[in-house]
Amino acid sequence: DKGGYKHFMAKEIAEQPGVLSNALRAYLNRDTIALPVEGLDFNKIDRLVMVACGTAFYACLTAKYWFEKLAGLPVEVDIASEFRYREPPIPSGTVALFVSQSGETADTLAALRYCRDKADRIISVVNVPESSIARESDIALPIHAGVEVGVASTKAFTCQLNVLLLLALKAAHARGRMDDAALAGMLDDLRGMPGLFNAALDRDGVIAQAAQKIAEARDVLFLGRGLMYPLALEGALKLKEISYIHAEAYASGELKHGPIALIDKSVPVIVMAPRDSLFEKTVSNMQEVMARGGKVCLITDAAGAQEAGGDVWQVIRMPEVSETLAPLLYALPAQLLAYHAAIAKGTDVDQPRNLAKSVTVE
Ligand code: F6R
Repeated sequence: DKGGYKHFMAKEIAEQPGVLSNALRAYLNRDTIALPVEGLDFNKIDRLVMVACGTAFYACLTAKYWFEKLAGLPVEVDIASEFRYREPPIPSGTVALFVSQSGETADTLAALRYCRDKADRIISVVNVPESSIARESDIALPIHAGVEVGVASTKAFTCQLNVLLLLALKAAHARGRMDDAALAGMLDDLRGMPGLFNAALDRDGVIAQAAQKIAEARDVLFLGRGLMYPLALEGALKLKEISYIHAEAYASGELKHGPIALIDKSVPVIVMAPRDSLFEKTVSNMQEVMARGGKVCLITDAAGAQEAGGDVWQVIRMPEVSETLAPLLYALPAQLLAYHAAIAKGTDVDQPRNLAKSVTVE
């Protein structure tokens, strides 16, 4: 049931404030995080290895920044199909973490089985608690996104980010890197997320306008730095999946190492850059794009728009959000841009060609 929406994808995008609230209710007590990770001693973990495919892989890439920065935990992230055949060494002290919406992705499951007798502990972050990946883990953490029907993952991504962030915060607190007050502050910010999502959903009209123009392009580039880099990757994946427009993402700092050669006035460049500690750096990359005629669509907040929005082609203004939480919120414009570009192209949004919801063969 599409609940009055034209597509499951639109419904699932709009559901994000609600499912995030549910997930937070499930996992937060007043000032503590109630993730079922009993017996996991965060002080005995030397290294976290995170493995997944597609959008779930980008959730892992985002979480790497959180685990490193907040919890001081060394993290490695890999694509399941690479990890499983590379057969990397898993030294003791390693916890292996697998992220999968369906919990049935063949490569992710194979990677998990490879780690079975090697990792200290196997954790999974899943949407389907009865799935193979959940059943074969020592600890399965449900994301509480509800059933996701649209082939392009939307609400599962933000709910994966939410659980991964909670785990990183729990680790940071347990490892003495974050005191009670700082944790309580973060949790308060998180509780404000559903409200920010609702405010961001109000930008739908502006995003649809930008998407109309983007839909005319043959190639689109996404740029982001730090926490926005995995988001840029996710934005490019969403766009190519459902609108069939060729899209690529780069870390902003990589631009001059090659991809800048692609820039001309026919290539829209989507820059994801809240006014955070890396903003100036990203803006200088953006200016390099504009100096070569590239058409920039800047996704930022009011402060960012004020500072750098002057000559850009399109500005999508997002609500203010803390630097740590920005990836959750900035998933939304990435999803909506892809959705509206697909509508403009008349593609089958919920059932894009050549794709399956659950990839149970490698
Ligand atoms: C993208 C998408 C895919 C999945 C990937 C992993 O929108 O849906 O990239 O994220 O196939 O699937 P799960 O999470 O079920 O393991």
